[in-house]
Formats: sequence, C-alpha cells, structure tokens
Amino acid sequence: EIKGVIFDLDGVLVDTAVFHFQAWKRLAQELGFDFTEIENEQLKGVSRIASLEKILNWAGVDASESEKIEMAERKNRWYLDLVEQMKADEILPGSLELLHWLKKNGYQVALGSASKNAPLILEKTGMISFFDVLVDGNSVSLSKPNPEVFLKAARDLKLLPEVCLVFEDAQAGVDAARAAGMSVIGIGSNLNGTDLSISSLEEVLN
Ligand code: BG6
Ligand code: MG
Repeated sequence: EIKGVIFDLDGVLVDTAVFHFQAWKRLAQELGFDFTEIENEQLKGVSRIASLEKILNWAGVDASESEKIEMAERKNRWYLDLVEQMKADEILPGSLELLHWLKKNGYQVALGSASKNAPLILEKTGMISFFDVLVDGNSVSLSKPNPEVFLKAARDLKLLPEVCLVFEDAQAGVDAARAAGMSVIGIGSNLNGTDLSISSLEEVLN
C-alpha cells in the first residue's frame, strides 16, 4: 500500500524541461555542436555538471575544470532568465489538483529532483507548501539513475521504499526509482520499466 509519493520536478510538475533544453542548445551552438531533442532526452534527470560533460563529449571539445564551471554557470544564467519569465500557470496540468488530493488523503509528499534550482521554482510556482520533504541537487551527490535521491526522500519521510510511488518523466529517473525498489509512474512515451505510463498528471485522478 502506497504511503508516500515522490515527485520529480522538471517535466513532471512544471514545464521547465523545455527551458533546460533551450539553454543547453544555446551553449552547444557556441561549441559548434548541433544539439537536438534526441540528445536532450539523454540529459533529462541528469545533473548540471554531468549534462555538460555529455555535451562536451558529443561536441568533441576538451575543457579544463574551471572552463567547465564557467560553462555550467553560463547555461544556468540563461536557464534562470527563462524561468524568470515563467508564471504560475506554467505549472503542468493536473499538478495542483493531485498535490491537493494527496495531502487531503493523508499521503506523505516529497520532491526527488536533480535540480539545484528546485527550491526557487517551487517557491515561484507556489507549490512548496505541499511538500513534507525536499531532496534536490543541493542535497545529493550521485546523479540519477543512481537511486540516492529517492532513497534519501524515503528516509526523510520515514517510509520504506516499497511504500513509495515515484512520478518521473526521464528514463534515468525511472531507472533510479526502480533501483530504489519503488513503484514508478512514467509521464510521456518511450519510457521503459514503469509500472504505468501516462501522458500527464491530469490522468491520475480521472
Ligand atoms: C533535472 C533536469 O531535473 O535537473 C535536468 O531534468 C537538469 O535537465 C537537472 O540538468 C539539474 O538541474 P539544475 O537546475 O541544477 O541545473
Ligand atoms: Mg524530469
């Protein structure tokens, strides 16, 4: 029986996956690399620095540690410029209804995101108060598909992994949830290893 629900953020609760894509595309173009949605799929759920390393690798570009930090910061500034233009109505359909319903029905709710910007985005969209526990890119060191982020969320909720359900839009995140021993609902198509796939959180209560 499920007692805790753990949400990924980008691409699940809020439509920020497109902003990550645009910002990485801009950086890739500066490196002379034509970055498409196909490569972008492999960056979903992956930490900022690990994403940069994949792009440098695809582009065949060598960079020093300090250059990598500068590039990651540059991408993040572009990303935050896009987030700045975001309004509360860019919360994905069904998110608020589901969060309300879960709290009303006594479920524990956690965030399990790779993003260091997660607290800012939850504040900005007014969703932060629904969460009993926040685990994000500031509190974990191992990127999805490593299960660390979800195991930490379960531990902080004081729940066993087997009573937790994860909502994920990324293959790395589905793999992380599975490795944590949790149930997982995938959002979007082409995800392997989910218990159920839906196209939007709107479908959960319907
Ligand atoms: C994940 C996104 O949620 O967070 C990735 O799917 C992103 O695309 C990662 O790279 C880290 O985000 P941030 O906000 O710390 O750069
Ligand atoms: Mg995601």
